[in-house]
Amino acid sequence: MMTLTQYLQSQASDELASTIDTLAKSSIAISALLDKGALAGIHGETGNENVQGEAQKKLDVISNDLLLDALTQNPHCAGVASEELDDISPANDQGTLLVTFDPLDGSSNIDINMTVGTIFSILPYPRVGSQATEADFLQPGVQQVAAGYFIYGTSTMLAMTLGQGVVMFSFDPTSQEYLLINDQVTISQTTAEYAINASNYRYWLDPIKEYIDGLVAGDLGVRNKDYNMRWVAAMIADVHRILIRGGVFMYPFDTKIAGKTGKLRLMYEANPMSFIIEQAGGASTDGVERIMEIKPSHIHQRIPVVLGAKEEVDYVKDLHAKAGILANGDPA
Ligand code: F6P
Ligand code: MN
Repeated sequence: MMTLTQYLQSQASDELASTIDTLAKSSIAISALLDKGALAGIHGETGNENVQGEAQKKLDVISNDLLLDALTQNPHCAGVASEELDDISPANDQGTLLVTFDPLDGSSNIDINMTVGTIFSILPYPRVGSQATEADFLQPGVQQVAAGYFIYGTSTMLAMTLGQGVVMFSFDPTSQEYLLINDQVTISQTTAEYAINASNYRYWLDPIKEYIDGLVAGDLGVRNKDYNMRWVAAMIADVHRILIRGGVFMYPFDTKIAGKTGKLRLMYEANPMSFIIEQAGGASTDGVERIMEIKPSHIHQRIPVVLGAKEEVDYVKDLHAKAGILANGDPA
């Protein structure tokens, strides 16, 4: 079986291979800590809040520090941005790549022994020789040179795209290597499975209410077929399920918190997952625009997300268009 190192040697530039290798090494350390669980003293909260106003779990902090230390020491990395840190961290002026990451997506799952993961996005660094600033990171998702996630589930896996399809690796605890298990991950255009936190129903815009009403009505409604629902409450696990067996995942615009345009972060969650889903043959939108074409306004920007089976994503986009919604959360 091909190892991740061998795959990167044959498919990526030296700079990109080295950066992904650094991410993979950190993921192996994080996975080992998760395996120890309560025995490693990683459960419970630190008492601090992150920049998004959420309580940080101990392992969020540890994972963040592991990734930050490793990446800033990589000579090819010009700068790093983490969901957990207010500001970007400039790294090596001679680096040609920028890395953004969510060190531990779904971190509230740690204490209940459920799936979490690390999401990453790699962007080109155009100003080699000078110190990276936040403005350098504000590139639309179409500029990504690679994106992926390490999922710490019943086993540890890596799903990744370098822009030519999606590949999946499984971590072998014996050899301590990621081994290639699928060199062409594809998802179906159609599905009968959806993922949404339906408790937010009353805060959604009309097109999303109409869409979910149609799915719940099943074979008695406009869609003429029954749908099933799944929600792990960790984007990484819901997206992984879609890569494995199809589906559509949504965290749409809602009016629950004034001024908050969606829950998920464009740079750490929406863009990398959109890149992977599109490269596997799916689609991704905020309801109006293709997510990867959105020019980020700031590093911690939040965005509504609808991604997965193309037929469903297009259906949701049509509902927004018919309702005259011109931009996310902005009824005409
Ligand atoms: O990172 C945000 C996140 O934890 C996602 O991983 C997940 O999809 C979502 O929030 C869960 O939201 P909720 O708490 O509404 O179920
Ligand atoms: Mn997250």
